[in-house]
Amino acid sequence: MPGRGAPRLGLLLLLRLLLLGCGWAQQPPDSCQTLCRCLEAAKTVKCVDGNLTAVPPDLPPYVRTLFITGNRLARLPAGAFPAQRLPHLSALNLSGNHLRAVEAGALASLPALRQLDLSGNPLVSLSPLAFGEGGSPLEELALRGALRDQGVLLSLAAVLQSGALRNLSRLELADNGLLLLPAGMFTALPALRHLDLSNNSLVGLRNVSFHGLGQLQSLDLRGNSLGVLRNGTLAQFRSLPALRRVELGHNTWVCDCAIEDLVAWLKESDQVEGKEALTCAYPEKMLGKALLKIDSSDLDCSVPVDLPSQLQTSYVFLGIVLALIGAIFLLVLYLNRKGIKKWMHNIRDACRDHMEGYHYRYEINADPRLTNLSSNSDV
Ligand SMILES: *[C@@H]1O[C@H](CO)[C@@H](O)[C@H](O)[C@H]1NC(C)=O
Ligand SMILES: *[C@@H]1O[C@H](CO)[C@@H](O)[C@H](O)[C@H]1NC(C)=O
Ligand SMILES: *[C@@H]1O[C@H](CO)[C@@H](O)[C@H](O)[C@H]1NC(C)=O
Ligand SMILES: *[C@@H]1O[C@H](CO)[C@@H](O)[C@H](O)[C@H]1NC(C)=O
Ligand SMILES: *[C@@H]1O[C@H](CO)[C@@H](O)[C@H](O)[C@H]1NC(C)=O
Ligand SMILES: *[C@@H]1O[C@H](CO)[C@@H](O)[C@H](O)[C@H]1NC(C)=O
Repeated sequence: MPGRGAPRLGLLLLLRLLLLGCGWAQQPPDSCQTLCRCLEAAKTVKCVDGNLTAVPPDLPPYVRTLFITGNRLARLPAGAFPAQRLPHLSALNLSGNHLRAVEAGALASLPALRQLDLSGNPLVSLSPLAFGEGGSPLEELALRGALRDQGVLLSLAAVLQSGALRNLSRLELADNGLLLLPAGMFTALPALRHLDLSNNSLVGLRNVSFHGLGQLQSLDLRGNSLGVLRNGTLAQFRSLPALRRVELGHNTWVCDCAIEDLVAWLKESDQVEGKEALTCAYPEKMLGKALLKIDSSDLDCSVPVDLPSQLQTSYVFLGIVLALIGAIFLLVLYLNRKGIKKWMHNIRDACRDHMEGYHYRYEINADPRLTNLSSNSDV
């Protein structure tokens, strides 16, 4: 039936051309009439809560700030923002769009993009090439409540480590239920100033490197499950020249021996915001005690930290006990020195008597006449 299809195709083309003509005639693009509010003076477009399933293809080229929020985009494919169509777009808010996948190149063709908000999307896939192969000019990236999937967290770490976002100065990763962070995740972010890791479930920072964050000013760790910060982490905080606002509230600090270094750092450092309000969560008897008011005598060091150091302390303890016993023994000897002297004399006298008796008997035995006498009498 190809013969009958051709004229229909021609008709469709004509119709489309006509529509395009109308679009030109009425200045503002279609999507500004129906799906979005376009505020030309403010260079802002808002496509909010509209059930959109794709980015409108005809957004006005003047747009600097674009909100596409509360829609049903599901995925952001390559070319979602056509190359060169939006040369001025600098702030893009894509939060709450049920986005699951951000594909390779999806955000690569936005040469002026500085701020991106992908919060509140149930991401399961984030392409390492989402921002393209060259560097992205992005400065602020928000991913609140968007990284529930461990694979996406690893993808994000790969993107960050690739150096594609070297101009990033603010990174928001709050509300993600993160337990651990991939090692080396923040090593290629030399411009980072603000890092928000609040309201996750981080249990430790032992493997997290903050080296190379020479510009970092604020680090928000509120609302996690941190029990202690170790020397290695504290040393990194101390060495970051610009860091002056570390927030540590609402964590589960464990006030045993291992917290001594953290307490010492808190006392000396002015990097910690609201440090007076930090309190112990464990053990029971320390519950609610201010970390700043802890001194080493409060700490229950019977909880084994690690075996070698515990062994060491028990050896020291044993040594002290033995030394004490020795000292007491010597003291007793000293106090009883008269009695002991007397006792020694007694022993010596007793010995002498005994020896004399023995000597006498030996003399008798040694006398051959007496020996013979005794042996003869046996016969
Ligand atoms: C979006 O879809 C929901 C249900 O699917 C509907 O209730 C709502 O009215 C729609 N909103 C718009 C702006 O079309
Ligand atoms: C993006 O939009 C959401 C919903 O309107 C808003 O809560 C959020 O603050 C916006 N993000 C930015 C970076 O302005
Ligand atoms: C990063 O910022 C610098 C200075 O603002 C700029 O020269 C450079 O082009 C930016 N990098 C990218 C990839 O846009
Ligand atoms: C923390 O995250 C949970 C969900 O993960 C959210 O319901 C809650 O509002 C967040 N709290 C704050 C203070 O952001
Ligand atoms: C820390 O890293 C080491 C190796 O790099 C690994 O064996 C260990 O499990 C990691 N610990 C945590 C808590 O991630
Ligand atoms: C931590 O560092 C301090 C000094 O910087 C040192 O006195 C302390 O013994 C260290 N603690 C551990 C557990 O290594």
